[in-house]
This record gives sequence, C-alpha cells and structure tokens, in this order.
Amino acid sequence: MNVPLASAAPWWRPDSGHRLAIRGGRPLNGTYPISGAKNAVLPLMVSALLTPHLVTLRNVPATLDVAVLAALLQRLGCEMHWSTGSDGLSVTICADRVEARQIDPGLVTRMRASVLLLGALLARSGEAVLPMPGGDAIGLRGIDFHVAGLRAMGATVEIEGGVIHATAPGGLRGADILLPQPSVGATENLLLAAVGADGTTTIRNAAREPEIADLAQCLRAMGAAIKGIGTHRLTVRGGSALKGAVHGVLPDRIEFATMACAAAFTDGMLVLPNGRMDLLGVAATTFEAAGVDLYDTGDGAIARRSKSGLTGVDFVTGPYPGFATDMQAPTMALLTLATGVSAVDETIFEQRFRHVDELRKMGADIAIHGRTARIRGVRRLNGASVTCTDVRAAAALVLAGLGASGETVLDGLDHLDRGYDGMAEKLAACGADITRQ
Ligand code: UD1
Repeated sequence: MNVPLASAAPWWRPDSGHRLAIRGGRPLNGTYPISGAKNAVLPLMVSALLTPHLVTLRNVPATLDVAVLAALLQRLGCEMHWSTGSDGLSVTICADRVEARQIDPGLVTRMRASVLLLGALLARSGEAVLPMPGGDAIGLRGIDFHVAGLRAMGATVEIEGGVIHATAPGGLRGADILLPQPSVGATENLLLAAVGADGTTTIRNAAREPEIADLAQCLRAMGAAIKGIGTHRLTVRGGSALKGAVHGVLPDRIEFATMACAAAFTDGMLVLPNGRMDLLGVAATTFEAAGVDLYDTGDGAIARRSKSGLTGVDFVTGPYPGFATDMQAPTMALLTLATGVSAVDETIFEQRFRHVDELRKMGADIAIHGRTARIRGVRRLNGASVTCTDVRAAAALVLAGLGASGETVLDGLDHLDRGYDGMAEKLAACGADITRQ
C-alpha cells in the first residue's frame, strides 16, 4: 500500500510478508488473547476530533485500519502519541488544531469507516470535504442514511465527481431522525454529529451493536449528554464543550467468535482472555448447536469442540443481537466439516459470499441460491492457494487452512491486516504451523 503510515502509526510493520502459509491439521491449544474491537476503535478515534482536549484510548488493536485512520487524523492536524503497556497499545490524540480540508483520497478509499469523519468534522468545524469512502467489496454500502441525517441537522451535502462536500456554516442543529434501517455507520456518524449540534437530536431505529454503546460511553466520559445507550432510540443533548477522556476499547466479539470456531474446528482447546460471551447475541445459541462449547471464565472464555462433534445448523444474519454478518464467513468455514447440511441466510450485505469460491477450492461443498448458502459437510478440506476478498473472508480462509490437510497459501493479506491484530503470531503461539512469507 502506497500510503505513508510510518509517521502516524510507527508500530505498523508493512514488510512482514504478503502471503500466509498454513500447514493444517494441528489442533490449536493455548491462550489466544482477544484484542480491542476493530469496529469500536475506529469511531472512538474519530471522536477525538470533537474536542481540543486529549483523548486517550487503551487496548487499541494494532491493525492496518487503525494505522490508516491514524494517518488520516494526522493529515487533519491531529497529534498522536502511542505507547505500549500492560493493557496493550494506547494512543493519545490531540486535536487542538483541525484543518478540515486536508483529507487524502488515497487513505479514504481504503476504508469505509472514514465516512465517520463527516459527522465529526461538521460538528467541530462546520465543514468537511471527503472523497467517497472505500472498504470491503461486500455490497452497495450506500451512504444515503448518513447524508439524509446530516441534512436533517442543517448541513448542506453535495456529492460531485466522487467527492462529498458538506458544510454547516451556522453549525449543526438537533433533529428528529428515523433511520430506514439500523445502520451501524449511520448511527455512529449521526451520534458524533449530534454531540456537536445545537439542541436535542433523536436517532430512531438506531443500530444497537455493542461498538455503538462503547462510542456513546466514551462520548459520555467526554461530557456528552446521551440517553438510550444500547437501545434503538438514542437521544443526544448537544452543543456543550467536550473535555478529554481516557477509554478502554471494547474487546472484539468478532475475533472472539472466530477463534471459538477455530478451537472447535481443529478439535483443540483455546483460552480466550477478554472474550465476551455476553456480546455474542443469538450466535451463542448457534455455536452451541453447531458443537462449539464455550465456558465463561469471568475474564474471558474457553472454547473447544463438543463431545458430540460438529453438527450442521441454520442461521440468518441480522442487526445486533442477531447473528453478526461479520461472523458469517468464519462460521461457514466451521460448517464445511460439520455433519449434515447447514443453511446460511445473509440479509445485511448482498455480496458477502465471496469466500465461498475460495472454500470450494479447498473441497467445501457449498451451493448458493440468492442470499442463501447451503453447506453440506465434507470429511476433509485440502490445502489450496486462495485469495482473501474482504476482512471476514480472510479470517474464514485462515480457519479453513488450519483445519485442512496439507498446505494452504493465502494472498490478499491487506484484508486480514485491516481487521486483526497479529492473528498469525497469536495462532502460532497456540500450535498452528503458520508463517508469513
Ligand atoms: C459496520 C461494520 C461492519 C459490519 C456492518 C454490519 C464498521 C467499521 N463496520 O459496517 O464490519 O459488517 O456494520 O454489522 O463498524 N446502508 C445503506 N445506506 C446507508 C448505510 C447503510 O443502504 O447510508 C445499508 C448497507 O448497504 C448495508 C446495511 O445498510 O446493506 C447495513 O450497513 P451498516 O450497518 O451501515 O454497515 P457499516 O456501518 O458499513
């Protein structure tokens, strides 16, 4: 990737190899610590733009998305100080000077979450110019809900030649907003904007993913008045000056679910510190039925295959607490070796079966009918050369490689790096034969 990440995120190691080779068939045994959530840390970093005071985030995952967002914030004038301690990577962000016009298209097009800069910049400086955001190729991923909400708050938003121009010279004002769908990104964007808007904003049909509650708690610690955290109706009394805060990033429930599947898939046992069973939603029941046994240890969980083995299950992805679409691909990898037939309905993103062709190369028996995938369990997967097409597809292919006979080689590793902090190293520490080349 040709972007200057080194000065914004000095911990980022871009040259650690572009392929991942996995010799499968070894059970995973050991301790795999769950990192801070990718989907929580990005909006939390953006929230630092709302105040000239220092915002410190702890338990930051060392991922490519975090490095890219750090570079974006640096271009906007933020200063960042990184440190590593007992609670992992921390960053202190100082946004006492913000220059809203300095956004780099090369960075924005790499990451969908950069759209969150719109709400925060409008709230902070009344202006934002942002190239259309990129991210995973998993569906239409419009930003119409974001734009309609910001317009309701008094912003003028125009999209021309792939660039979004948003202004609110007199400042944003509170509004009553009904989201057509509980969009995670739109809820976060409008929450960030509402905190800086004059008056009260109500976001109805808000998404209630745990990462949104984490953002709202951090904003509260900064002095924002937010009610209804964790519900479909958020009420924000905005406009007051925000102070700094220190906040620990919520553990990653997607990484946790993925590694729980990996333990069961390889017939090993993983201790997963910081794995939060209470954040799995309905997936907890699905995993139990599929033969993934989970035990709460108080500060994490232990995962292993159930004595009755892996069993086919049906599930439908949905907004939280429904089955998370981000857990769909790794769970599908698990089901390739389960007894019987499973049906998986993907209702959130229309192109989120791109891992299926790659899993088929490894011998998986999967048929797709529209938004439904039918998986017939096979006796074994065979190693193959496969390509990661999005963040969660990458995790699914790592899982498949761990459980397959022979060698699997993954390329397209930017996708894995975007979302997971040191996955290969953490797996190797649990006995996986996995190396970056
Ligand atoms: C976030 C997560 C992503 C996760 C997804 C669903 C981050 C950084 N990413 O993505 O990992 O898979 O939630 O849990 O947190 N939509 C519109 N118009 C809009 C906004 C959304 O049509 O303005 C549609 C999307 O195309 C999609 C659905 O709404 O079909 C849900 O998308 P949304 O919840 O917004 O996902 P993201 O915030 O992009």
